[in-house]
Amino acid sequence: MTQRLPFLDRLAVPAIAAPMLRVSGIELVSAACRAGVVGAFPTANAESLEAFAGWMARLNDEAAAAREAGTAHAPWCPNLIMRRDPARVRAEVELIVRHRAELVITSVGSPAAVIPALHDGGCLVLADVASVHHAERAIEAGADGLVLLTAGAGGHTGWANPFAFVRAVRAFFDGPLVLAGGLPDGVALRAATVLGCDLGSMGTRFIATEQSLASAPYKKMLAASSLDDVMTTRAFTGLPANFLRPSVVNAGLDPGGTRRDGVGAGGAPALRRRFRGRRDPALGRPVERRALGRRGGRAGHGRAGGARAARGIPRVCIGLGFSLKGASETPDGLRGPRPEARRGVSLAPDFLQ
Ligand SMILES: Cc1cc2nc3c(=O)[nH]c(=O)nc-3n(C[C@H](O)[C@H](O)[C@H](O)COP(=O)(O)O)c2cc1C
Repeated sequence: MTQRLPFLDRLAVPAIAAPMLRVSGIELVSAACRAGVVGAFPTANAESLEAFAGWMARLNDEAAAAREAGTAHAPWCPNLIMRRDPARVRAEVELIVRHRAELVITSVGSPAAVIPALHDGGCLVLADVASVHHAERAIEAGADGLVLLTAGAGGHTGWANPFAFVRAVRAFFDGPLVLAGGLPDGVALRAATVLGCDLGSMGTRFIATEQSLASAPYKKMLAASSLDDVMTTRAFTGLPANFLRPSVVNAGLDPGGTRRDGVGAGGAPALRRRFRGRRDPALGRPVERRALGRRGGRAGHGRAGGARAARGIPRVCIGLGFSLKGASETPDGLRGPRPEARRGVSLAPDFLQ
């Protein structure tokens, strides 16, 4: 008998609108919660602590109004990126507790430092993990549940097969599990629950929505793209990530090669050689060396999905990555390679803990 999440009966579908940097703004989160889907957002999407507090206050007001009207309202869910300035993370945790968040998703780093304060505030913690080892460590640290990041996820991706990963974790953990990566629709969501998950976390599916912060041209590109337009590479951030091939081309860069599942025969080093010194039209300045990394490693083989306009409605959108602009603009270091990456050390095995 698995432990259940306390808010499942308030959801219209067992889904989280996944946290996405520069995509999940307040309008998307609000619309998701009102539609009965958990609305998650990286705290960094609010431009300041004041704005972050304002978002949470608005979401609480909307939840109260829904309660009064007798309608359901799904929880909102901040996403804490752990590998950042600890003082900033602490300040965000304080605000999260003050605004009585029901749950938080932690990613890119161990949740250990924030779990005591969040638990004291009555907030559940779901830790984003990409390996069995990190799942075990997150549980040891006190996480209430896990988001299993698997192959095909948009943005920084996992690599494990979802069937194998969910079953491997279910063998030792009966708490809440969320599957993330390549969930395009309700059928896939249902499959995730049959597999043993409580929820599915869907990201790319929400990028081309009216409420998302993605630019109109990017939404259009995504809706017109297919599975075969996805490339997986470490060349941009040092971590394996899924990108839309046309977004790379639009930025004036050459993805190279003919392979559909990577960056081409030359791999990431060839990609960097091609890009070095070129101007990034999205940013109007030369492509940054740090954005390309010094040694990107070989290209991955993500089973990422795609989107097509079907009867004018964007259909499946699995695993389509963020724009190159997002990848190379890293004022907060979230998307940039860490120093180890600049030294050419692969971060893949440990980037989630
Ligand atoms: C554009 C983009 C930005 C993302 N930013 C974040 C982030 O800031 N924090 C995080 O934990 N996950 C982030 N993710 C991962 C999503 O939360 C989620 O795991 C992923 O989108 C699921 O795969 P899917 O896109 O195939 O549905 C991002 C994904 C995308 C596509």
